[in-house]
Amino acid sequence: MNICLMGFGAVGQGVAKAISLKKKEIKENFGFDIKIVAVADSSGSAISQEGLNAELLLETKVNTGSVSNYPQFGNNDIKGMDVLDSADYDCLVEATPTNIENGEPAKSLTLKAFTDKKDVVTSNKGHLALFFSELINEANKNKVQFKFEASVGGAMPILNFVEETLPSSKPESIIGILNGTTNYILSRMTSEGSSYKNTLEESQQLGIAETDPTQDVEGIDAACKTVILANSLLGIDCAYNDVEVTGISKISSEAIELASKEGYFIKLIAEVSKNALKVSPRLVKKNSPYALEGTLNMATVKTDLADDVTVVGKGAGSLETASAILTDIINVFKK
Ligand code: HSE
Repeated sequence: MNICLMGFGAVGQGVAKAISLKKKEIKENFGFDIKIVAVADSSGSAISQEGLNAELLLETKVNTGSVSNYPQFGNNDIKGMDVLDSADYDCLVEATPTNIENGEPAKSLTLKAFTDKKDVVTSNKGHLALFFSELINEANKNKVQFKFEASVGGAMPILNFVEETLPSSKPESIIGILNGTTNYILSRMTSEGSSYKNTLEESQQLGIAETDPTQDVEGIDAACKTVILANSLLGIDCAYNDVEVTGISKISSEAIELASKEGYFIKLIAEVSKNALKVSPRLVKKNSPYALEGTLNMATVKTDLADDVTVVGKGAGSLETASAILTDIINVFKK
């Protein structure tokens, strides 16, 4: 399978690393060759039908700052849409940054790939949260596969899990922690008694929170995931603006301490059901499934037959998120 990889930040680099680590195993277990024939980010691209060496791609990006310095096949001029025309690929792996204003460039890249009859795997949330039904309709119209396991909870299995492992049961609601950064900040505020501001700064120094943490701390990232879960698992036709969102930036260490004394943690909880699409800080009992610490994500799916099923996993991380992308690539091949 020939892969065109758009976006070469933490997730894109994780995909290259994961492919390099798992190429042989994938060939042995699933019987197909996986080859990166094009990679691009805002700095440029590298394209080769013979396949690009993943390790060399990573080295080039880390040492020179741009994939366009890849020996022989690097190019400064071919960017964005042009890459999709220049490369002969089967599956677009779209890992550009999430843009909640207009979903670009993910939306245009994805629609172009669909029109060109290519399958798409993405970790992006912006275009899905804004244009979910349009994207699904276009994928169906063009008879291509569109998979986005990595967009919700990184390595936490939720979309494929519910669809493929629980087909007997109908999911009725989902309640969970869908953001690792805020879970880390709230956990540290609880264990250290530290202020929001200091804990955020510490998280940024550790590389857990972004330099601009807005999407995470204001609940925007979790709201996008809420929309994706609502549409894909509960059949609720909704978009980003339908979610009621409150972030964690106003939570004081005093509130956390008081909650703790009474046997509760404060967590940023996403609720996904026909009655509520909501992201907000809530009290959770210390011995409940929601009492997870660190950057973990979790989701409890309430179903008609299986009752409650809870999944837990790493919600962020380069290789962890890439694991979900690689799972989707394998599933694209299988179908
Ligand atoms: N920044 C997100 C988190 C991961 O902290 O969970 C990407 O959605």
